[in-house]
Amino acid sequence: MSMSKSSAPGKVILFGEHAVVYGETAVAVAVDRRIHMDIEKRVEVTRINGLEIDPEKQPYIVDAIERVGIKEPLEIKSKSYLPSGAGMGSSAALTVSTLGCLYSLEGTPSYEKIARTAFEIEHSVQGGASPIDTSTSTHGSAVKLTRKKGSNHLWKIKKDEKRWHVHHQDIPKMKLVVGDTGIHAPTGPLVRKVRRFYDKSGFARDIISEIGELAERGCEALEEGDLESVGSLMNDNHRLLTILGVGHPKLDELVNAVSSHCYGAKLSGAGGGGIMIALTDKPRKVAEIIKERDGTPYMLEASTTGLTLE
Ligand code: MEV
Repeated sequence: MSMSKSSAPGKVILFGEHAVVYGETAVAVAVDRRIHMDIEKRVEVTRINGLEIDPEKQPYIVDAIERVGIKEPLEIKSKSYLPSGAGMGSSAALTVSTLGCLYSLEGTPSYEKIARTAFEIEHSVQGGASPIDTSTSTHGSAVKLTRKKGSNHLWKIKKDEKRWHVHHQDIPKMKLVVGDTGIHAPTGPLVRKVRRFYDKSGFARDIISEIGELAERGCEALEEGDLESVGSLMNDNHRLLTILGVGHPKLDELVNAVSSHCYGAKLSGAGGGGIMIALTDKPRKVAEIIKERDGTPYMLEASTTGLTLE
């Protein structure tokens, strides 16, 4: 095959970001905003959207080409409907959709292999990561990561002494509104900041395990379709993440501003800026409030479609 197309969704994390890096339970939902990728062989030099590829600017794509082992130059075209560096999983969607195309060109696509390689790439580019973003983007729907294997198991991913069991998670119909603070906060430095805190403080380790327990309860509430409990656990998760040092005053402002119009709200993803999410029955009202406070709202639906290959 000399040409392939793919697309992969972004995600929002409902519970457990950061703590999942240490093997705690976490759950994320794929969303209806995607990255589309189109890759072709038979060109002179590797280009992306018309420009010669630069490993500094495109580390995920360059790493993916190396790992798949394609030596020929490639014409790469990408189109993203996800804000980048905001916490909606744009780097994972980019990596997963790139790998989808590259493995298809080699004739060997497998969702499990793509999820595993995409995680390795995020881990190496960001200097630490869990497989939550990349597995959610690959599988779609919602995904739960745990230390122990449970029902609806998809795959197991290992790194050094750590292992994550990745499961399909059923979720009720939910309306989510994202509020983008517009504050750019790359994931890598935040993951490393939490690592430093975790390594020297028993208090940080306690917070991390408390987040994991809360995520477990969050999954039970999701399975029961109990949105009140899901929302109140989201509020608790937001407070714990702030104590962990990945909050931001603008995130608190947006979370507090929408609180009387939603079941619950929290920062989502790496934090430090980036996005907050609200679970609500009044998405328009919540979006309006976010806008009034200079955030950018996105009304999202969960997407059952993960990686697609053509
Ligand atoms: C980023 O979307 C989620 C983090 O937990 C990092 C990771 O799991 O790779 C902050």
